[in-house]
Amino acid sequence: MEPKIAIFISGRGSNMNALLDAEGQGKLKGRIEVIISNNPKAPGLNVAHYYGKKTYVFPHENYGSREDHEKAIIRVLKKHEITHIVLAGYMRIISETLIGAYPRKIINIHPSLLPSFPGLHAQQKALEYGVRVAGCTVHLVTKDVDAGPILVQKTVPVYSNDTEESLSARILEQEHIAIVEATNLLLEGKFRIKGRRVIFDENEK
Ligand code: GAR
Repeated sequence: MEPKIAIFISGRGSNMNALLDAEGQGKLKGRIEVIISNNPKAPGLNVAHYYGKKTYVFPHENYGSREDHEKAIIRVLKKHEITHIVLAGYMRIISETLIGAYPRKIINIHPSLLPSFPGLHAQQKALEYGVRVAGCTVHLVTKDVDAGPILVQKTVPVYSNDTEESLSARILEQEHIAIVEATNLLLEGKFRIKGRRVIFDENEK
């Protein structure tokens, strides 16, 4: 059965857009079934409609707890027989409730080379720290924030005249490549986890 993907967004949705483009070009190994947002004003929702995708908005402030919020989302995911989840600029921490419903089937993209600079404002933190190489990470989602096993990383140089905006834009270009690569790896599922490592080579012991 073809994998069915839900993409979660909170804002602009350019990573989601990269996935929608890949799907349109026949380069995605599954079907994007629904777009979920916690933010009714997320500009990415308009992009999703433009591509003819079904969207669902779950404003988190309407729910008494993180668990209730996620349970409502899970009901919709199950209704659509979603098999995999891509967090593409989804700015909510997700809990055991959702992770338990989709173990090892959820990935997240983060705009730094983890484990450096987890959390918010990753690009600004990288700039302030003075690193010479920055980048992005796509990882499996576990209960520890920005800390799951890593599927894909891409690097970019940091220049002396960089601003948060210029560095973020350079990283974002790589994010759009990384998110498609990592989603396909997730959908294929031809890996196992050894400690923190994602092992792709089936011959490796
Ligand atoms: C991206 O840079 C993504 O890596 C980041 O938010 C941006 C969303 O952009 N995610 C996080 O910081 C998650 N902690 P987009 O809405 O255009 O894809």
